[in-house]
Amino acid sequence: MPTHDRSPIILNINGEITPADRAQVSVFDRGYLYGDSLYEVVRSYNGVFLHLDEHLARMEKSAALCRMVMAHTAESLRKEVLRTFDAFRSKHRGEAYCRIIISRGAGKIGFGLNCLETPTLYTIIIQPVETPPASQYEQGLHLQISERLRNDSRALDPAMKSGNYLNSLLAYLDASSLNYDDALLCNADGHVTEGTTFNVFYVHRGILCTPPLDIGILDGITRRRVLTLAQGLGIEVREVRFPRERLYESDEIFVSSSIKEVMAVTKLDQKLISKGKPGPVTRKLLVKYREEITQLTGARGKS
Ligand SMILES: Cc1ncc(COP(=O)(O)O)c(C=O)c1O
Repeated sequence: MPTHDRSPIILNINGEITPADRAQVSVFDRGYLYGDSLYEVVRSYNGVFLHLDEHLARMEKSAALCRMVMAHTAESLRKEVLRTFDAFRSKHRGEAYCRIIISRGAGKIGFGLNCLETPTLYTIIIQPVETPPASQYEQGLHLQISERLRNDSRALDPAMKSGNYLNSLLAYLDASSLNYDDALLCNADGHVTEGTTFNVFYVHRGILCTPPLDIGILDGITRRRVLTLAQGLGIEVREVRFPRERLYESDEIFVSSSIKEVMAVTKLDQKLISKGKPGPVTRKLLVKYREEITQLTGARGKS
């Protein structure tokens, strides 16, 4: 385990706040054995975790989707996040990345719930946030459309933010080995779903399009904000199924996530998008998204 003596990384394991180098989780934890865990990521602005309650509500929904009985309510997790954040802030004044993980627990090897010797376990990791550099918002992302498929909802519902990310992780590794920044995934019908850790949108003739939730994607908190902000700007919004070719022909493409916010895609596979620069709708939505963050947290959105 790496030592983080002077590192500001703070962990909270089931209520116990620990420096990173002392943290321990059992090798019999089901998150480790089977990816039988859930997680959420929130980011602070001006010392406030953005949309924390929505992320915790999504975690409760994920738990229901994977038959996990949470030992701690969203409200008690929220309090623990804030308590851990206080410990982090006593060491580090900058903005934070917070990962909340719950696993079904630890016990004997085996799938049955009778193997469990502990109830669900939670871990909260808070560390300095690594945000994309400002230049990345100007250059945009270069994405590959992966040949690996997004999980079918009947196999592992992408609406559930589980710790089981191996196919997305492999899509990312495939893409980065070819010097792409990241990857988009299609489903078995050939429809575009989402990125490895972000939702995707395109603009065609002024209309903003994104895959619908029932195609099998994560109900991104940032995606929700983008859809609402776009409507507020009078932009027509459509949630539609589409093949990858639609993206090649689009005027703009961008992705959304809590960490990336709203970020242009300027190259997809071999094709330049929007002449290799973020397009006007993408720029407008990024500005609006950051303005809203300022209103909600008092933070000055990073440019
Ligand atoms: C698969 C996937 N889609 C979309 C997102 C974006 O979600 P949010 O906007 O809630 O951060 C994530 C975030 O991790 C993700 O893992």
